[in-house]
Amino acid sequence: MSGADATIDPDKLHETIEQVFGFLGGAVVSGMIFLGDRLGLYRTLAASGPATSDELAAATGLHERWVREWLRGQAAARLVDYREGRFSLSPEATLVLAEERSPAFAAGGFCGLPSQMAVLERLPEAFKTGRGLPYDAFGLEGNRGVERMFAPWFRSMLVPIALPALDGVTAKLEHGAAAADVGCGAGVALIEMAKAYPRSEFHGYEISKFALTRAAANLKESGLRNVTFHDANGDALPTDARFDLITTFDCLHDMAHPAPVIAAIRRALKSDGTWLIADIKSHPTFEGNLEENPMAAMMYGFSVMSCMSSALSEPEGAGLGTLGFTEDVARAMTRDAGFTRFRTHDFENPMNAYYEVRP
Ligand SMILES: C[S@@+](CC[C@H](N)C(=O)[O-])C[C@H]1O[C@@H](n2cnc3c(N)ncnc32)[C@H](O)[C@@H]1O
Repeated sequence: MSGADATIDPDKLHETIEQVFGFLGGAVVSGMIFLGDRLGLYRTLAASGPATSDELAAATGLHERWVREWLRGQAAARLVDYREGRFSLSPEATLVLAEERSPAFAAGGFCGLPSQMAVLERLPEAFKTGRGLPYDAFGLEGNRGVERMFAPWFRSMLVPIALPALDGVTAKLEHGAAAADVGCGAGVALIEMAKAYPRSEFHGYEISKFALTRAAANLKESGLRNVTFHDANGDALPTDARFDLITTFDCLHDMAHPAPVIAAIRRALKSDGTWLIADIKSHPTFEGNLEENPMAAMMYGFSVMSCMSSALSEPEGAGLGTLGFTEDVARAMTRDAGFTRFRTHDFENPMNAYYEVRP
């Protein structure tokens, strides 16, 4: 029986319509968050305190009519507070939307949204051919979105919380060790570690030319001399065991061929070295994600637009996808590559699971 012939429950119909328009509302408000971040509207409002649309327009140098419409939408979305003609950001909304350096900052990731959404036009072809789009399909801004989405955790948690929880790692880094970050993106994690441990040397490996461009810019800005970025397309991990620490942050599930990369990590790691893996928190089964993972719908969407797509962008791609590098998969793949020790950590990140893996 087709959907059209089935008995229609009017309440369920109404609920489904509401649900679908709720998703459209989320997409459009996300676009407005992109504009608020890009135009400095959140930052200016946070700095000014309660303001009229005239005052915010004057402070940002923008046209009042446009600012007024944006503010009204933000108030309707309950992101901005409204009282007697004035709009304001609560202290909490300030941390999430206006303060780039706050651990709770989330607006930065929205800068990649237009590039991420733009690939939708190319995805029908991918569904037909099976071949995904490489990571660089998102251009520089797509890479900036990833950089700004993950940077708050790297800046607030990696050095003070995560590294000290790993067995013996900070002592080695203080003394002078060699570390690598594979799939290093814009290099924010590596630069944070390099700042904290000036006696150690840090190497980033990355295949995206846009990410490498961002990494070079971030390195220049940092003024650090103990960091080197490598284009892994031709300058891959060394084949001798020279690293004391290797990290991979949210990249194994994106890789077209994670198994050879994991084998290369094993070769490049000293026998007493440590590999810290961060990957997206996921249940071992689809049913588990369906019932218990409130972010599953968004994650499967990101997977189609980005993670699974890039993991299928080469022939015989593994296609793990955003929720595909589960703990079970991580245990099996690291064991197959010759690692014998596996420990889980919880570093207060709702999105990520962490594994300390050793030979
Ligand atoms: C989601 S991003 C994460 C970037 C960075 N680790 C971060 O947390 O900001 C995944 C990255 O893995 C990179 N990548 C994918 N396959 C790779 C490979 N075989 N070698 C090195 N990097 C790779 C992509 O280019 C992309 O920059």
